Amino acid sequence: MGISVLSMRNVPLQGKTLLVREDLNVPIAQGKVTSDARLLAAIPTLLEALDAGAAVIVMSHLGRPIEGKGIDQQPEMSLQPVAVRLSELMQREIRFVSDWQNGLSIVPGEVVLLENTRLLAGEKANDDSLSKELANLCDIFVMDAFATAHRAHASTYGVAKFAPVACAGGLLMGELEALKKCLSAPKRPLVAVVGGAKVSTKIAVLESLADMADQIIVGGGIANTFLAAMGFSVGESLCEPEMIETAKRILNKTDVPLPVDVMVSEKFDSNSPAILRAVEEVARSEMILDVGPRSARHIAKLISSAGTVLWNGPLGVFEYDQFGEGTRLLAEAIAGSDAFSVAGGGDTLAAIEKYSVVDDISYISTGGGAFLEFVEGKKLPAVQILEQRALVS
Ligand code: 3PG
Repeated sequence: MGISVLSMRNVPLQGKTLLVREDLNVPIAQGKVTSDARLLAAIPTLLEALDAGAAVIVMSHLGRPIEGKGIDQQPEMSLQPVAVRLSELMQREIRFVSDWQNGLSIVPGEVVLLENTRLLAGEKANDDSLSKELANLCDIFVMDAFATAHRAHASTYGVAKFAPVACAGGLLMGELEALKKCLSAPKRPLVAVVGGAKVSTKIAVLESLADMADQIIVGGGIANTFLAAMGFSVGESLCEPEMIETAKRILNKTDVPLPVDVMVSEKFDSNSPAILRAVEEVARSEMILDVGPRSARHIAKLISSAGTVLWNGPLGVFEYDQFGEGTRLLAEAIAGSDAFSVAGGGDTLAAIEKYSVVDDISYISTGGGAFLEFVEGKKLPAVQILEQRALVS
């Protein structure tokens, strides 16, 4: 898993124009950004470039707009609110530009944010002429959007082919280093936590971790499928019978400590009380919605003796407090352990915020899909092209 890319830190930036690809794909409600996490993760790279005397053009996608359809017909797809919030957080003026294809001038010390790249014809198709247009904006292209590095788009891949210099920003470097530390030569034992609804969406991750991790703690619907594979009745729980053979294969490869007690309910809503059951006593009409306290204590013990923890996905339906105890105890155990811990994925980040352990996780990845693909052992195209550029320069 050797990754060798040119780091922005090793490139002279004074007086240069940088085009920095960030992932500013953040939630927006009523015209306001509702989570700053990805913006805060991107800012150090931007400040580093400004401090070094560069002019900084920032670009990102937002959501999944219809390509070629004007922003006036899908105004919710504009990055304008992100420009406003980024400017507040950076305490600097940020010029928002949507017509850069007609020409763009910028001076050192200035920051410009381009409109949503996914509105551009050719972005998703990684079109060469759009990639060249982007590359022509800059002296140096800086790929910093780890969370979009699994997409081979014009703004992540094509531009890196044609820019005079292509390098990785501090955020991308940090993400790659943290994941490598976790997966290439982890301090043992390596304990992976894989929660979430479905085995089918995480098969590749589970298969890959089965070869690497000393233990895989499963949660949510994934745990139910593993329980079914062990012959337990899971009642009305979310479960994928067609994945039972996959679960058995993983059980044969590595240690998957399954819950011995669970919290169940006959209804799935915020008012239904959680009922404690031994795992062999789940009734036909019941759904498993969290692990029970004995299981949570066992999981916490495994975490406390881990050398490395990789966390993706909650153990229960933590959006409802009564089914959130397993995830809360997990979060607190990871926060309290001496292990090097890496967490990634949207639900995981929401749990980390809910249980206020943000500062106690060694590394929180900004990636969702990119994080999973990296753990699966897939090459991220936007990193691959940086590696190729580093080889030829
Ligand atoms: C994400 O939120 O995972 C990234 O921004 C990528 O978004 P996408 O799945 O729409 O490419």
